[in-house]
Amino acid sequence: MNADTPNISTLPADAAEPQTNAGTFPVWVLVALAVFAYGVALRLDDNDGDFSAQVFAPYTSTKELEDMLPKDPERIVFLEGRKLYSQNCAACHQASGLGSAGQFPPLAGSDWVNTEGPNRIIRLVLHGIQGPIKVNGLDYNNAMVPWKDNMTDQQVASVISYVRRNKDWNHSFSGVTPEEVKKIRDADKSRTAPWSAEELLKTSDK
Ligand code: HEC
Repeated sequence: MNADTPNISTLPADAAEPQTNAGTFPVWVLVALAVFAYGVALRLDDNDGDFSAQVFAPYTSTKELEDMLPKDPERIVFLEGRKLYSQNCAACHQASGLGSAGQFPPLAGSDWVNTEGPNRIIRLVLHGIQGPIKVNGLDYNNAMVPWKDNMTDQQVASVISYVRRNKDWNHSFSGVTPEEVKKIRDADKSRTAPWSAEELLKTSDK
């Protein structure tokens, strides 16, 4: 040891090892936090987080959504028809309405759809159609199921209105009312077989 080395015993007493001074964590704080969190969860639960379960971002109220719904009755029928079409008809006739060559005839531009009155196509949608049929000069010989047991008058009216009024297909024919469908449903009540094209052409479209 030489004279330059400080003697530890001469250092001031307050230079002792630093202490973390960590006491025990007060348990009551944890309990208080848990009670608070539980209270918040209950409140959110009771109030659906203050949001309507039916309204999603970026919309904030049911009123805002209601204002966006279509009000025009013709538009409402068209939209219902579009939905029914995509659920029930598009599998064969395609969303484009173009069908598939040799198998499913087109509805877009079809000379069966584009008649002055809708009665023939109401008949064939209700009871189905089977056997040889010429659509726009092309031959098909297949079968379409009847829809009478799966669709209400309202639904048949909507889907045919959609098909006859679809502007994407350049159609602007008259729509169909549920009353018109009911009249034909009642008149053909005793019918059990699907139509043939030949038979249908003997009936009036109006
Ligand atoms: C399972 C396939 C299939 C489904 C689904 C189907 N169709 Fe058809 N549809 C056909 C076939 C096949 C024909 C032609 C039948 C024949 O060859 O005699 C046809 C014929 C037609 C015709 C007359 C011919 C034409 O092309 O204009 C119309 C109108 C029609 N369907 C409308 C509908 C509507 C409306 C729906 C939905 C409610 C629908 N179809 C669902 C297969 C289908």
